[in-house]
Amino acid sequence: MLEMTSSAAPVQLASGARARDAWPLDPDIVHLNHGSFGAVPTEVVRHQDELRAQADRSPVGWFPRIAERVAQARSAVAPFVGAEAEDAVFVPNASAAATVVFNSLTLDADDEILVTDHGYGAITMGAARLARRFGARVRTVRIPLLAEEEEILELFRAALGVRTRLIVVDQITSPTARLLPTRRIAELAHERGARVLVDGAHAPGLVADAAKAGGGDWWFGNMHKWPCAPRGSALLVTRADDRQDLWPLIDSWGGGEAYPDRFDTQGTIDATTYLSTSAAIDFIEREHGWAQTRRTMSALADEGADRIAAALQPYVAEDARVHLPMPVDSMRLIRLPDGLGSTREEADALRMTLFDAAGVETAFTSFEGRGYFRLSVHLYTETSDFDAFVERCVPEILRRAGITAAAS
Ligand SMILES: Cc1ncc(COP(=O)(O)O)c(C=O)c1O
Repeated sequence: MLEMTSSAAPVQLASGARARDAWPLDPDIVHLNHGSFGAVPTEVVRHQDELRAQADRSPVGWFPRIAERVAQARSAVAPFVGAEAEDAVFVPNASAAATVVFNSLTLDADDEILVTDHGYGAITMGAARLARRFGARVRTVRIPLLAEEEEILELFRAALGVRTRLIVVDQITSPTARLLPTRRIAELAHERGARVLVDGAHAPGLVADAAKAGGGDWWFGNMHKWPCAPRGSALLVTRADDRQDLWPLIDSWGGGEAYPDRFDTQGTIDATTYLSTSAAIDFIEREHGWAQTRRTMSALADEGADRIAAALQPYVAEDARVHLPMPVDSMRLIRLPDGLGSTREEADALRMTLFDAAGVETAFTSFEGRGYFRLSVHLYTETSDFDAFVERCVPEILRRAGITAAAS
């Protein structure tokens, strides 16, 4: 497999192509937010286009056999997350997977769901809706940004109560881009009779055998993030005894079948996202190798975080680069000047401001009232992208923070 010889050199794929050229990303835009919506390689886009063309050429040749094709795709993709095909189902996205699980559960009025303050807001809202349906309550476990593994387990040990029925916890957190020890949290929860839904939205591709590593009673992960599948491809994996209570969000002809087969039929939909997922996994494996891709991303992310943090450091009281105890390979957190991005709404607004004003795709997050730039890299990222951020975004960030840039 190709090693990255210099952090400054663009990644070259096994086919000899510059990685950037293998994605259809707009060259006039700087792409530093793979984490939110992924990015699909051109070869995979074409593969999906060809499948759609087949469906368009012969709808009757395509749709009546769709369940078989989806089942085959499950068999091809499940091993990538360390799962058996008979434990895995395709759903359109992580949010859908959580909804499927929440819909299957019943609670008593004095039961409790534990979530964390690193949780993905939309999933936490789903947990809150589940609790409301039964008059149960949601309690938030607060985990300091820099908490180590043992401290996190201690927090869960202390938080688990006799009425805790469910924990919803992220394998890789969205606002803080770090790992949480979900497998060990699940072991602890099981000792106390609670069940665990692991949100592994970011885990496929970043964590080897992500579903196995994530543990929990139910696990889900997005294939349209780090594996670079077309959007609308996620896996839900479970071996839970009551998994026959899980139903697709769309009642369809699979209704007479057992889990997982009943998820393979979803009425007349475009299932080409599922059917193209293994093409994305295979593309990265063939062109750079998944293990090497994680190493390459890690080196790139460190390089980017250092360059960007250095530019912001004069305006940030603490270390601008956050050194997380359980980092992931592809994302880094950089502190923003005080007062910027202190709420999720402000952080999201900053993303669009910089997109419109600077032509840079970014993600900003907010945690404990503090704003962060969440840097994402993938194989197509080049160090010139970090320089572009420094040149185009840092002045805008300072302007919005009301700071006059120091003369260099
Ligand atoms: C941790 C986490 N959970 C869930 C989601 C929701 O993913 P989707 O929009 O694909 O449903 C995301 C999206 O970024 C996420 O980061």
